[in-house]
Amino acid sequence: MTGLPWDASYHDGPAPWDIGQPQPAIVRLASEGGFAGAVLDAGCGTGENALHVASRGFSVLGVDVAETALAIAREKPHDRGIEVEFAAADAFHLERLERRFETVLDCGLFHSFDGDERPGYVVSLASVTEHGGTLYVLCFSDDGPDTGPHPIRQEELRTAFNPSHGWNVAAVEPDRIQTRFHDNGAPAWFATIKRT
Ligand SMILES: C[S@@+](CC[C@H](N)C(=O)[O-])C[C@H]1O[C@@H](n2cnc3c(N)ncnc32)[C@H](O)[C@@H]1O
Repeated sequence: MTGLPWDASYHDGPAPWDIGQPQPAIVRLASEGGFAGAVLDAGCGTGENALHVASRGFSVLGVDVAETALAIAREKPHDRGIEVEFAAADAFHLERLERRFETVLDCGLFHSFDGDERPGYVVSLASVTEHGGTLYVLCFSDDGPDTGPHPIRQEELRTAFNPSHGWNVAAVEPDRIQTRFHDNGAPAWFATIKRT
């Protein structure tokens, strides 16, 4: 688990990606009916996306390695009258959850992993995603200008989520990720990936 460095990001005020509200791309996805069944938010941070999806009536588990982020997230549901579960878990070993999800969300996690880490992550995701289920990945893209810190090429998504790992990339669309340091967000890919 790479928890300690991540946890430090949450110690002195909001992390650069922690915008205090759900990402607009996730709000749009929810309003379009993109979620179904039990939902996993991998790398949930302080939980705004998980909370938004749960507010639409879905059962949501948010997992993260950063205990400080989870502590912040766990304070939110009660105040808002929303039920969400938050748990410490390593995205490289999601099989340890011993649960399955129809929809899995990765908002800003995939792009934080190096190329040699991706196969392990992709296999881990496959272990908890129902066959026929859907994974959504929102990541920084190389489709600049003013790209985020770990821009991903579209081909990298297609290479990582390939059929031999149990995935079929259904769509990769240009989008934006809002951050605390971009006025209008950073260029992103919004990928819809089906578990075969
Ligand atoms: C860029 S942040 C995005 C957080 C959140 N999804 C959001 O949109 O605000 C990436 C998150 O992934 C978490 N993370 C990093 N490595 C992880 C791992 N191996 N397992 C679980 N979470 C991890 C970090 O602690 C951090 O909260």
